[in-house]
Amino acid sequence: MHIVFAASECVPWAKTGGLADVVGALPPVLVRMGHRVTTFVPYYRQVAKKLSDLPVVIPSLTMPYTYYQRYARVLDGGVHEGVQIYFIDCPEMFDRENFYATPSGDYPDNWERFGLFSRAVIEASKILGVPDVFHAHDWQAALIPIFLRSIYFFDPVLRRVPCVFTIHNAGYQGWFPSSIMPRLLLPWDMFTMDKLEMYDQVNLLKGGLVYADALTTVSRRYAEEIQTSEFGNGLDAIFRRRSADLFGILNGVDYEEWDPAQDKHIAAHYSADNLKGKKECRRDLLHAFGMDGVDDKTAVLGIVSRFATQKGFDLLAAIIHDLVQDDIVLLALGTGEEYYERLLGELALRYPDKVRVQVRYDNTMAHKVEAGSDIFLMPSRYEPSGLNQMYSLRYGTVPVVRSTGGLEDTVYEEHDGEGNGFKFHGYNPLDFLDAIRRALATFQNKEQWEEIMKRGMEEDFSWDKPAEEYAKIYERVVANRTWS
Ligand code: ADP
Ligand code: GLC
Repeated sequence: MHIVFAASECVPWAKTGGLADVVGALPPVLVRMGHRVTTFVPYYRQVAKKLSDLPVVIPSLTMPYTYYQRYARVLDGGVHEGVQIYFIDCPEMFDRENFYATPSGDYPDNWERFGLFSRAVIEASKILGVPDVFHAHDWQAALIPIFLRSIYFFDPVLRRVPCVFTIHNAGYQGWFPSSIMPRLLLPWDMFTMDKLEMYDQVNLLKGGLVYADALTTVSRRYAEEIQTSEFGNGLDAIFRRRSADLFGILNGVDYEEWDPAQDKHIAAHYSADNLKGKKECRRDLLHAFGMDGVDDKTAVLGIVSRFATQKGFDLLAAIIHDLVQDDIVLLALGTGEEYYERLLGELALRYPDKVRVQVRYDNTMAHKVEAGSDIFLMPSRYEPSGLNQMYSLRYGTVPVVRSTGGLEDTVYEEHDGEGNGFKFHGYNPLDFLDAIRRALATFQNKEQWEEIMKRGMEEDFSWDKPAEEYAKIYERVVANRTWS
């Protein structure tokens, strides 16, 4: 089967979060299973810096139906682990400082940027090979299923091609004024409550949910949660309406990239059978945060995260004054919303002997934090899947997480030698502090701690099983479409 992936991020070229990891790691596994996969990603400035002078495969994609006279080029990014990568190049749209936003807010023309991207993916596929199925990711590619059922509805070839839509995060929806409807050449009869309209605005994620042939999200638990008003972000009724076509598939881990036995970014290698190297990684991490000389008995707590409301930093801010009384150091790596960048910066200023923060995006440092910490904190308000807790498990870095979404599906509270981490339920500071303190108490018992570490390290979250589940969904949507 030929599958076209369309996404706004993909490792190693464009990444702000886990979406990029998934879009980079799932296609090669599908290829090993015998499928053909083509992946399209925008040619951002950051990509152009890494990959210049790429061969041009389509010099000018004129998109006959767009309101503005824009055109895009398609660049050949080469074949990587069997996956053909193409970049959509349109400097006006993508040659910018960031992917989606400046620290103070989103680019207001994101609808046009990702509208152009989605149109270009469909048009390019007509020339480079019409797939059996499109697989679009998050609101940035939601216009693919929307366009397929509007602009392309009468296209004799494309009308037969189904689309799977994956929701990596229902908190990001792509809201725009209704004036974008004619600009994207979308008919006004799509601007209704049961389609794209929400509170008199266009909600692109909602459109994707309505028009895709099947919906997936990135853990079983999150697939249930988004059908409730607490987690549905206003879209729970649509999720319920489409529940027969909604599947929760937990993300996998790319163990070629995230494995302490072969990780090229860390100071020493180690595994469940031989933990010695982890000490060296810890020393190296502390050094990188300017904290040489921390005692072995002190627990190193690590964080790698987008700094966003989703990730629970308000809980951290609420407990930090108590937490620093304990024998810990806290090392955080992240970037994101200005508010949280400042908040974390202030905590570090206030407790310089206990809290250190690096406000930047740094893949090598992310690997060092995973390897060198004793405990990893993820107090997320919600977490569709979460990859960092699964990376932590493999690196013997015991996760302390809130039991939501993928965190609930992957972390089991330590009880009589059965758990791989520590969990709290209610979204409140006391429960979070309590879970950290249970972890810290256990950390003092080296034997029990090593058992928990090893239990986590031996767990298998590879992509093989999830990829099979995706393949089944592709087959299902193709089978359901043969009537047209
Ligand atoms: P989300 O996608 O919600 O951000 P995930 O846990 O799924 O959360 O994935 C986050 C990914 O982004 C991980 O691969 C993590 O290592 C990476 N990451 C997040 N912030 C940074 C950063 N500042 N520097 C390097 N990597 C980061
Ligand atoms: C989103 C979610 C995260 C998930 C990632 C990849 O960014 O916040 O939980 O792991 O997408 O699916």
